[in-house]
Amino acid sequence: MNTLTDIARRREALREFVPPIEWPAVDSEIRAIRRLKTRRRAAVLAHNYQRPVIFHGIADVTGDSLALARGGGATDAPVLVVCGVRFMAETVKVMNPGRKVLLPASGAGCSLAASITADDVRALRRAHPGVPIVAYVNTTAEVKAESDVCCTSANVAEVVAGLGAPRVLVVPDGYLARYAAAQTGVTVIPWEGRCEVHERFRAEDVRELRRTHPGVMVLVHPECSPEVAHEADYVGSTSGMIRKLESARPATAALVTECSMSDNVGIQLPGVRLVRLCGLCPYMQLTTLATVRSALETGTEEIRVEPDVARGARRALERMFALGLPAAS
Ligand code: 13P
Ligand code: SF4
Repeated sequence: MNTLTDIARRREALREFVPPIEWPAVDSEIRAIRRLKTRRRAAVLAHNYQRPVIFHGIADVTGDSLALARGGGATDAPVLVVCGVRFMAETVKVMNPGRKVLLPASGAGCSLAASITADDVRALRRAHPGVPIVAYVNTTAEVKAESDVCCTSANVAEVVAGLGAPRVLVVPDGYLARYAAAQTGVTVIPWEGRCEVHERFRAEDVRELRRTHPGVMVLVHPECSPEVAHEADYVGSTSGMIRKLESARPATAALVTECSMSDNVGIQLPGVRLVRLCGLCPYMQLTTLATVRSALETGTEEIRVEPDVARGARRALERMFALGLPAAS
């Protein structure tokens, strides 16, 4: 339902991102999507890196990768539209096998997920017999199925420590693996995959930001290098960053991660001035109002995961939920 208050609230939230001349078209697209959601009994799950028009305009459930992995649970809609990237949609399908899961942006991959295959994981297991393999959720369902347990950036430390093993393989993000080692004291064997957005940030950029913005609070995602993380006031997942800002309420902050996140958080926390040391994820940007509308109209792309693979991936995800839910997630 579109009450006048809904429409006014939406316009206010998106004012900075939609010029007045474009608003009538954007608003009519948002209303069309809302009608389609009702007709198809669909819910929209959106990652924190989605464009503000998606995040604040049409999403029913928002959050980090962990929230989206559990996100189907927040709604009983038989159709789940995942505004994010392919590994997120696969995870939602694996956790909700009886529901239809749609990925509006078929080309929405991820450089981390592309950096490792199921064959690579089998080879790692042969090379390191008995060492548990932790797969970041930013992996294909096939890779998850070959691993012992999954993790996200929100619970990697809990998962790695919870295994109780002296040595653990963490794939595919080499920087996240080092972060887990530093947090837990466990010997972590990394795979050297990288996020193409987070690997670009440099420690000197953070130092320069501090020079130009004295007092700025710097929040860094653990997909950044250890040198960048070392310069931070806080290191954590996208939702961890939001919680930190909500509790600390700094006058000025920088979210060293994907840029749309700063746009979305800026709308939620208008009292915090967000300065940009960030980069756009080209895959996250592929989801637009037009692709979501088309997904709802045509029922594509429907995500399918082969049953054996889905069983294995679900086992690894459920083990993660058993081992590693941070208190505030
Ligand atoms: P989180 O939202 O889980 O912190 O993940 C960040 C990310 O890069 C997702 O692709
Ligand atoms: Fe993948 Fe990095 Fe984009 Fe996240 S931000 S989807 S890890 S490329």
